[in-house]
Amino acid sequence: MKAIRFFTYGGPEVMQLDDVPIPDCGPGDLLVRVVAAGINPLDWKLRAGAIAGTRALLLPGTPGRDAAGIVIALGGGVQGFVLEDRVCFYAEPARYGTYAEYVALPATQAARIPPGLSFVDAAALPTPGQAAWTALVDMAQLQPGNRVLIHGAAGAVGGVAVQLAKQLGAYVVAMASANRAARVQALGADEVLDYRDGCSGLPWRGMDVVLDTIGGEVQDASWCTLRAGGVLLATSTVPSPARAQQAGVRAGFVCTRPRGSVLAWLLARQLRVEVARTLPMADAAAAHRLGERRQAGRRQNGVADAAAGIVKALAPLPQGGPPCHRLASLSGYQSKAPSVAGGFCLAN
Ligand SMILES: NC(=O)c1ccc[n+]([C@@H]2O[C@H](COP(=O)([O-])OP(=O)(O)OC[C@H]3O[C@@H](n4cnc5c(N)ncnc54)[C@H](OP(=O)(O)O)[C@@H]3O)[C@@H](O)[C@H]2O)c1
Repeated sequence: MKAIRFFTYGGPEVMQLDDVPIPDCGPGDLLVRVVAAGINPLDWKLRAGAIAGTRALLLPGTPGRDAAGIVIALGGGVQGFVLEDRVCFYAEPARYGTYAEYVALPATQAARIPPGLSFVDAAALPTPGQAAWTALVDMAQLQPGNRVLIHGAAGAVGGVAVQLAKQLGAYVVAMASANRAARVQALGADEVLDYRDGCSGLPWRGMDVVLDTIGGEVQDASWCTLRAGGVLLATSTVPSPARAQQAGVRAGFVCTRPRGSVLAWLLARQLRVEVARTLPMADAAAAHRLGERRQAGRRQNGVADAAAGIVKALAPLPQGGPPCHRLASLSGYQSKAPSVAGGFCLAN
């Protein structure tokens, strides 16, 4: 099969389209023919070696953890799925990576795609959706009437978080750039504020929950928005326990783990991630460049590269021959990140 691989850490150019064996479909596994793979910032952070200190890859590696496709083989003992099912998933640890024509993964990490939802849209949801769930449901235990401040609300994690928080009955204050405010409002946010006006003067106080998908000064400015005993949850920068203690709140870093049951819940409630661009799998490097340039633009100017949009799906090349089941060990990573029951690590 075709798959994107990289043999060293580096820029987008280290990724190349390779021929590799189709992964083995072991006991409890689904073998899926990938129709679309979702792209997440973690994909390029891992490729660049930016977090190799805590998440070292076994190279060569294949990027990607999110995908949607069709079940073409079932390992022994699999229940709840049949051949030809349309499924999506966040597969971690990614034994092979999802920028590939076929992926084998534990069936417990997959969910059936509801009728009417495209493979591309389904591939965009798994990691952002489960990150939002981990933060708001597992960690914050959000209750109806809670007031939640969501940073990065126009992004993938923040956008799902807005939808999820509204479905859970919370009052949502969202941070997004002005040109995306209408879209964030359409997701259900009660108030939308332009982050480019600066965070230092955040007008809110008494928030029950803050979801910080940005880190840095955004996180610094967020502590004082919380009520005593509130909770700050971060997906990008690990919050300081000392700062949390000083502010009289709890804080935690979101460690998302794959759960097909959570994904099925999100799909059934029609939570969605907007997909702005779809590229062929062979253009993985171009897709990473778009995403990285967008983030760099923000860092340098505080303004996103509007042309880039949210790059969220890679469509694979036309399918090759029939799958043959061979053992393969193409990639995977050894995580040194703290592993805590419940899928998250509380810093306080
Ligand atoms: N720990 C975990 O388990 C986990 C899971 C998933 C993701 N993550 C991490 O979470 C972060 C977000 O992921 P994502 O997929 O949501 O990325 P994304 O789709 O690129 O979204 C980021 C959003 O942040 C917005 N933004 C940028 N600067 C901002 C600021 N100063 N204030 C408010 N909003 C700002 C951007 O808005 P504009 O487009 O308007 O600039 C963009 O919509 C990444 O660092 C990712 O690696 C962690």
